[in-house]
Amino acid sequence: MFYSANKNAKSNASALAGMLKFSLHTALLFVSGLCVAQPKPTYYGEIQPVLEKNCTSCHKPGGIGPFSLFTYADVISKGTFIGHVTQTRYMPPWKADPDFRTFRNQTVLSQTEIDLIQLWLAEGMPKGKRKKNTKTIEVSESSLNPDLTLPMVSSYQLTDQAKEDYRFFVIPTNLPANTYLSAVEFIPGNRKQVHHSRVMVDSTQRIRGIDGMSELDPGIKEFQTIPLADEFLYGWAPGNTKIFFPPGTGKPISKGADLILNIHYSPTSSAQKDQSVVNLYFAKGTVSREVKTLTLKESDIRNQPFFIEAERKPTFYMDYLVNSDISLISIMPHMHFIGKSFIAYAITPKNENIPLIKIDDWNFNWQTTYQFKNLVKLPAGSRIRVEAKFDNTSENPMNPNSPPKDIGYGWNSTDEMCDLVIYYLEYEEGDENIDY
Ligand code: HEC
Repeated sequence: MFYSANKNAKSNASALAGMLKFSLHTALLFVSGLCVAQPKPTYYGEIQPVLEKNCTSCHKPGGIGPFSLFTYADVISKGTFIGHVTQTRYMPPWKADPDFRTFRNQTVLSQTEIDLIQLWLAEGMPKGKRKKNTKTIEVSESSLNPDLTLPMVSSYQLTDQAKEDYRFFVIPTNLPANTYLSAVEFIPGNRKQVHHSRVMVDSTQRIRGIDGMSELDPGIKEFQTIPLADEFLYGWAPGNTKIFFPPGTGKPISKGADLILNIHYSPTSSAQKDQSVVNLYFAKGTVSREVKTLTLKESDIRNQPFFIEAERKPTFYMDYLVNSDISLISIMPHMHFIGKSFIAYAITPKNENIPLIKIDDWNFNWQTTYQFKNLVKLPAGSRIRVEAKFDNTSENPMNPNSPPKDIGYGWNSTDEMCDLVIYYLEYEEGDENIDY
């Protein structure tokens, strides 16, 4: 009794403190608004641009967000909810800590933008005046003229409707010659059902038999013994746009290569089809530098074996020695459901610490290729270090097994992986300043 009364008193006090803080904050904003005679924020004035930049790529008709935030009516019907998810930074979903490292493709609201939304809500969500030449928001994610559009060979009919469905597909590129790619893009065919996807490259043409196979098919193991030309050409999750490389550089893909897609479909209660598309963009002009992939894999783990027993929360440490000066373009950590947190940094021979990425709250459902804002130079002799934490206990709500089971390495999402995929160039003077 005493305990619960005390607890209430405490939560009342903190609620009061929260309110004071909020009204003080509002007052300050208001006062500062008065000082510079700024008008109150309105939907068309200040709010719509923020939502357009950070929300409507998913929250649009046919988008992956559960509702549209496309019109004033849409937005005011979700007013307080928007205030809540932005203040708690639940939305827009962006997993990497922006204080550790900022990225070119990041969607993170600034504190000013969050405060602006709060102020607008407190003012009663005024509409304001629509600007004359407001751009209409693009509803379809039309792409800028890809050189090769590769749809899945046939559309896939989702069968197991009550369950998550993981499938492999093969798309022959029929490329007549070795080619350099300047960008890669994945366009989900069925936006509601395609949860995420990974694009790989096979140059042997021996994996074609995997087309349409479920991850649960025992025959899959045989295909997985064939080494891939590129294990991670591209990782797509909702909200991802294309990955692109600096001018004069390109990612090689060989003549006649096949794309291998691993697509995760969400459960559905109705008959659904999907025919997703991969768009390839060819490098224009001379390619003088090759985009390479450096993958830290399970074999780079120092504390082997990579095996996660039930009810354990192990941390795995990876360590990789960089042999020449390199310039990093992008970085993509990869774990499955029981991944918990991931941090990567480099230690240079002069003992400088270069932060690469930090994800405190890993979520299998939100994976992205993180593109560095400027290329990041790692001098020869640097060591890339990773600390990846896993949680295979029943306390982990993401655990696919109840009760937890031992989990080892594998491609299937109920197996585990621990990778760090980096796109890089051999370093050239001035790379740090390239803006593209
Ligand atoms: C990358 C895609 C994406 C972006 C960008 C995005 N959302 Fe979402 N949002 C989702 C998805 C998917 C869900 C449903 C799943 C969930 O709640 O996690 C969601 C859920 C929500 C919810 C409901 C939360 C709940 O608890 O049910 C609100 C409100 C919301 N988003 C607002 C926003 C706002 C405001 C922005 C921009 C500041 C934004 N979202 C940006 C994809 C996105």
